[in-house]
Amino acid sequence: MIGAGAVGGTIGARLHQGGHDVLLVARGAHYETLRERGLRLITPGRDQTLRVPVTDRPVPVRDGDVLILATKSQDTVTALDPWPRHLPVVCAQNGVANERTALRRFEQVYGMCVWLPALHTEPGVVAAYGWPRSGLLHVGRYPSGSDELAKQLATDLDRSRLVGVTSPEVMRWKYGKLLTNLANAVEALCGPDPAARPILDKVRDEGAGVLEAAGIPYSTQKEERAQRDGRVDMRAIGGAARSGGSSWQSLARGSGSIEADYLNGEIVLLGRELGIPTPVNEVLRREANRFARERRRPGSMTAEELIGLIGERSAAGFR
Ligand SMILES: NC(=O)c1ccc[n+]([C@@H]2O[C@H](COP(=O)([O-])OP(=O)(O)OC[C@H]3O[C@@H](n4cnc5c(N)ncnc54)[C@H](OP(=O)(O)O)[C@@H]3O)[C@@H](O)[C@H]2O)c1
Repeated sequence: MIGAGAVGGTIGARLHQGGHDVLLVARGAHYETLRERGLRLITPGRDQTLRVPVTDRPVPVRDGDVLILATKSQDTVTALDPWPRHLPVVCAQNGVANERTALRRFEQVYGMCVWLPALHTEPGVVAAYGWPRSGLLHVGRYPSGSDELAKQLATDLDRSRLVGVTSPEVMRWKYGKLLTNLANAVEALCGPDPAARPILDKVRDEGAGVLEAAGIPYSTQKEERAQRDGRVDMRAIGGAARSGGSSWQSLARGSGSIEADYLNGEIVLLGRELGIPTPVNEVLRREANRFARERRRPGSMTAEELIGLIGERSAAGFR
């Protein structure tokens, strides 16, 4: 499991508990804590420490090993680089660019659409809010199709307190998820400010318009809810809801980088290729990166300020 944060830590812990041979790949203080104290996994109603094997460097691999990549998209190339090219790679990430990046280097690539609300803001600790299972994971061969490994993965996940589903059209799910993740930057910049709500509709509509113009199919929120219904819902932990999504967490940790180039930036890129203006996504991409670079606190921009910046960018027209 390359990247053992919110998503990688949760999937890794659940597979480990399900009896699978898991190795977490981590770095820095998180690696040191995992090695010394184990992984503390907090779920609704349970707080446990698991001794999942961990490394901070590549290890000799065996036949049958699979690389599951769960870093942020901006770390994909560096994280995959040291690993042998004959291994299958599964991109358990948001955005739609990682699979193509991996396929330049690795022969066998799988997409995983991750609906798994989790939090990682402290070394060694991951909180997973999904209940009664921790997450819904669609898995399929990239760019499309399914095979024995995809089926095996879905079965293993499904037996490990997750919901694993094989999908021959995994990228359709990932494009649907991308539309939801366009809101990540709004939450990272403005927090849960209700005055920012109109931006949420705008950013999604702009993204959907671009995908439609490009002829890219995407799953709907209704389809996603139907898949999760009764199997994975979000529950509070210790009486508190999750403080913020994965981009919010990047700012909260002061990590210096954020995934916006691969979320809002994907819509901006497609819009530029098609000649369609995308002012809302452009401003969110730009401002989220500025916040990360300047290590600004999440939620420290007012909705009014953000709406003003979007208005200015829209008025400037297509350049
Ligand atoms: N969090 C959620 O609830 C959620 C839900 C659905 C999907 N996702 C998606 O899942 C993906 C992972 O997000 P996340 O929230 O789990 O991120 P995260 O908590 O930041 O975890 C990623 C981990 O990967 C580590 N990492 C980066 N490069 C590495 C390298 N070269 N070697 C070893 N470790 C490395 C990071 O270390 P550093 O901290 O040192 O950078 C971090 O510990 C993203 O695409 C995200 O959008 C997240």
